[in-house]
Amino acid sequence: MRIDVITIFPGFFSSPLECSMLGRAQQVGALTVQVHDLRNWATDKHRVVDDYPYGGGAGMVMKPEPLTLAVEDLLREAGPDCPVILLTPQGQQFDQAKAEQLAQQAQLILICGHYEGVDERVRQSVVTEELSIGDYILTGGEPAALVVIEAVARLLPGVLGNPASLHNESFASGLLEYPHYTRPVTWRGMSVPEVLLSGHHEKIRRWRYKQALRRTRERRPELLEQLELTEQARELLAEIEAECNRE
Ligand SMILES: C[S@@+](CC[C@H](N)C(=O)[O-])C[C@H]1O[C@@H](n2cnc3c(N)ncnc32)[C@H](O)[C@@H]1O
Repeated sequence: MRIDVITIFPGFFSSPLECSMLGRAQQVGALTVQVHDLRNWATDKHRVVDDYPYGGGAGMVMKPEPLTLAVEDLLREAGPDCPVILLTPQGQQFDQAKAEQLAQQAQLILICGHYEGVDERVRQSVVTEELSIGDYILTGGEPAALVVIEAVARLLPGVLGNPASLHNESFASGLLEYPHYTRPVTWRGMSVPEVLLSGHHEKIRRWRYKQALRRTRERRPELLEQLELTEQARELLAEIEAECNRE
């Protein structure tokens, strides 16, 4: 997969793209990230990419010409079907399902906004999707673009050492993941649940599934409401309900 990022701070991406999973994804050839300095498409000698808002008010607005020229240049190579994604707090909430959908694409173009945001005509002319990473305001779209790149890259074939870990992770199955333990067995008076030491695979699987249901019920009950519950899930939830009533 190839991801093109349009930004006024290309340096922002240097270290994160070299580290950990993102570095590995590029080394194994699963991912290519091209970071483009928006100022390369500025149309004046001072390479200006922002201007005052019509109608007045605080802050600056990113000009339409450099952004649309940048996207059009990249689309010439990528082809017209390439998604052009504007990172904006007003976009659709980015989630695991969206990451899985984007991971199926051959190429993505990500636009990082700044200041008060981008001229509305950029959205109308070249943007195909708008994504938000949450209900809060960042100074620029760069951290949001990195979140999208990270979540998508780890889904690409050949990137994770053990792809099986993707299946149990929170949100993959619609549930939060069960709790994890490692050595030592007892630490500060707290012990690892015995079932995890039993070596009994079916009991461990059942325990983990129940913990995932319990966690989701406690922390994100709305996720449970969206699931079609299996017979076993209903049984385990009834057990959890009874246990909670006794506590
Ligand atoms: C200060 S914000 C602009 C906020 C805009 N004035 C508004 O109220 O909707 C500057 C840029 O940061 C990025 N940004 C801020 N918060 C974001 C979020 N939650 N998700 C994605 N991008 C975000 C966008 O690219 C945005 O254009």
